[in-house]
Amino acid sequence: MMLRAMTQDDVDAVLAIEQAVQRFPWTRGNFTDALHSGYLCCVDETEEGGIRGYAILMPTVDEAELLNIGVAAAQQRKGLGRAMLAEMLNVARGRNMKRVFLEVRSSNIAAIALYRSAGFSEAGVRRSYYQGANGSEDAIVMACELMGESNG
Ligand SMILES: CC(C)(COP(=O)(O)OP(=O)(O)OC[C@H]1O[C@@H](n2cnc3c(N)ncnc32)[C@H](O)[C@@H]1OP(=O)(O)O)[C@@H](O)C(=O)NCCC(=O)NCCS
Repeated sequence: MMLRAMTQDDVDAVLAIEQAVQRFPWTRGNFTDALHSGYLCCVDETEEGGIRGYAILMPTVDEAELLNIGVAAAQQRKGLGRAMLAEMLNVARGRNMKRVFLEVRSSNIAAIALYRSAGFSEAGVRRSYYQGANGSEDAIVMACELMGESNG
């Protein structure tokens, strides 16, 4: 995995993956806003220069929210999502964040399994939080505590 900062030039490639893998994809504007807001936006790039995945973390004062993570369909289930997530947690830890949290659709079994295996646990449920294809869908709030591993 080769993670680097996302730039405006990456948005086309990132958007193509997003539209292919997410049921309710972010828009181009969501990605450019994230870049302009100073969020931590990363892409995984192959040696040939192709983009395989991306992750976006929003740091606040002492905690961060993982806003988005995606892996190109043909590259899924090879450990890339787990590696990117681990790297984002490392960055958050390096910035002295106490915890990382996220919200995930209750139907997103793959993402929930990934987050659990990376050390996240369920912190709550927001009922009918998302618009779904057939009505609304719950959001599972998950959190990963970062203190104690490198900060004592
Ligand atoms: C969620 C996502 C990023 C995972 O990326 P990935 O590179 O395929 O994940 P990994 O190969 O690192 O898998 C890590 C673990 O996640 C879980 N997992 C991943 N894909 C899964 C699937 N299709 N079904 C069940 N569990 C899955 C497994 O526990 C897996 O560990 P294992 O392979 O040892 O069993 C990817 O499926 C994706 O892009 N999904 C669409 C976008 C999305 O839903 N993002 C999250 C919400 S913003």
